[in-house]
Amino acid sequence: MLLYKDIVKDGNEVLRLKANDVLIPLSNEDKQTLKDMHEYLANGYDEEFVKKHDLRPGVGIAAPQLGISKKMFAIMAYDEYGDFHDYCIINPKIISHSLELTYLETGEGCLSVEDNHRGYIHRYKRIKANCFLYDINKDEITKCVLSLKGYLAIVFQHEYDHLFGTLFFDHIDKINPFFVPENSKPVSFE
Ligand code: NI
Repeated sequence: MLLYKDIVKDGNEVLRLKANDVLIPLSNEDKQTLKDMHEYLANGYDEEFVKKHDLRPGVGIAAPQLGISKKMFAIMAYDEYGDFHDYCIINPKIISHSLELTYLETGEGCLSVEDNHRGYIHRYKRIKANCFLYDINKDEITKCVLSLKGYLAIVFQHEYDHLFGTLFFDHIDKINPFFVPENSKPVSFE
């Protein structure tokens, strides 16, 4: 079982590589990677497990954070409307996005980053992405176009960045970390 100590931390060069496409149909090894990532996120919602294993919960995790330079990530998060989302994503490609931007007033965090990096990260408010989704329970892979907005779009873009060797703090304005462009509005949680 994957624990926090197993997550690759900032400074390891695998986090800075461009990840490779995953071969479809999925190999058993790639399925296992998706299961491991999914399980890590699910365990983060289990308070007792978190306490017992000193687990750092997360809403997304990408294969490079397991030391595997392949285009896969998992997301498990409640959006700003309270709806739950659970995706295992393979070979994503953002095909369109809004001009409007959005950001988290708390800034972003990352399971691979232990240092505090304060500042806003402005991301597209809405995105459309081609990808494959893997359903762990059915052991089924489907091709789809995901349309995401707001908080989920932010989480997706954070994980997507991991596939290109980018970490969230790379986006923070060095001179004025809390700068807000005219076309960016914060996500508002109810
Ligand atoms: Ni991250």
